[in-house]
Amino acid sequence: MLSESSRQIIEETLPDMQERIRRITPAFYDEMLTEREDLLDGMFSRVDQVVGTQPQALAGSITFFASYVLNHPGSSPDEILTRVAHKHASLGVPAEEYVTVYQFLFKAIEKEFGEEYTPEFRDAWTEIYWMMADALIRIERSLYDSQANDQVNAPFTLVKKEQKADKIFDLVFEPADDTPLSDIKAGQYLSVIVKTKDGLRQPRQYVALPCGLNQRRIAVELDRTGEISPILTGLQVGDTVEISNPYGDLTLEKTVTDGFSPLYVFTQGIGIAPALAFAHQLALEHAARDIIFVHADESLRTWAYREELEEATGKLPRGKLISFLQASGEGDFTGSINMKKLEITPRSFAYVCGPVDFKQTVRSGLIANGVPGKNIQFETFGSDPYMHTATRRTM
Ligand code: HEM
Repeated sequence: MLSESSRQIIEETLPDMQERIRRITPAFYDEMLTEREDLLDGMFSRVDQVVGTQPQALAGSITFFASYVLNHPGSSPDEILTRVAHKHASLGVPAEEYVTVYQFLFKAIEKEFGEEYTPEFRDAWTEIYWMMADALIRIERSLYDSQANDQVNAPFTLVKKEQKADKIFDLVFEPADDTPLSDIKAGQYLSVIVKTKDGLRQPRQYVALPCGLNQRRIAVELDRTGEISPILTGLQVGDTVEISNPYGDLTLEKTVTDGFSPLYVFTQGIGIAPALAFAHQLALEHAARDIIFVHADESLRTWAYREELEEATGKLPRGKLISFLQASGEGDFTGSINMKKLEITPRSFAYVCGPVDFKQTVRSGLIANGVPGKNIQFETFGSDPYMHTATRRTM
């Protein structure tokens, strides 16, 4: 619990910190990753640093945490912390590096605040930092302990590669050593590490697709201007990458909290990946609830995994697949997703995976139909600079 003296200072300085932290974190990352280049090897994504999404995510989470602690004394925003801890664990963030982040971050804060960086100010914000860090370290430790092995990554060999649509490739890997495999929960992701042209190991996260017991399978969308997807989609059978244990708390079991209410799974483009994982798991469970997959895409040509989702939906007694395709006459509906075309029961659960505007449209439609915010889950790929709104995943 935050001490009374710190509480007063945080209350007074939070608006200022919220304003300035966005300038502080890029400077802090810059200096930290220049002095500790090794952190870019297999852990930090260098693109995130250039674009600024990662620094913003950290900034947003610290000020969000501070304001949460002020408004809810004695409790902590578990949902956000858990999400960050899963991401950290998938990248193997070690507990001892929290001191590194603290040192570089507070050096940058001191520089920005100048004379206002008094010992009292420093101590109050230090207390906030370590409340957050301690909670993250605790959750990360239990996540590491829950795995079938104590490795951050293990080597895997590509055993199958298939182009599923215009730019979407399906990759299947098998272990290249005898590291035991952890079980995957539907909706979880894997960090996949490849070597870039200059030899740096760079990680990216991909939702784990249904696959054989001794396998890992992912869908990769090729972005020719990107650094990692051309490498991944250019892999040949027999090539090796490193893959983490499965992480991510946005699972099927978290999405549906009763055994009977309807479940809607809204996806667009490559966002279809978790829908496949859910459909497969629901079929295994012989789920008898109404399950409606709603997918939006450009056309039948760009729609990857259509047959697989159709087949999986067919195995669900009350499963249904509805499509919105831009190409005229190719889907159940033509054009972008239109929530008015769907009859949504207010007591439904919903899971949404796709671009920001898609998620906003779906969310507004669900809320307008009386679906409670707590029943709606979102998956976002990459760092979320808007984490400070605290509404990114469960709304
Ligand atoms: C990602 C917060 C400490 C390494 C993130 C994200 C947040 C965050 C909000 C984005 C999560 C997401 O995208 O889902 C924090 C906070 C920390 C902290 C509040 C301290 C209290 C650390 C430490 C390290 C670290 C000690 C390692 C030195 C990373 C990495 C990512 C990340 C590698 C992924 C970003 C990327 O792909 O470049 N962190 N973090 N963080 N964090 Fe931390």
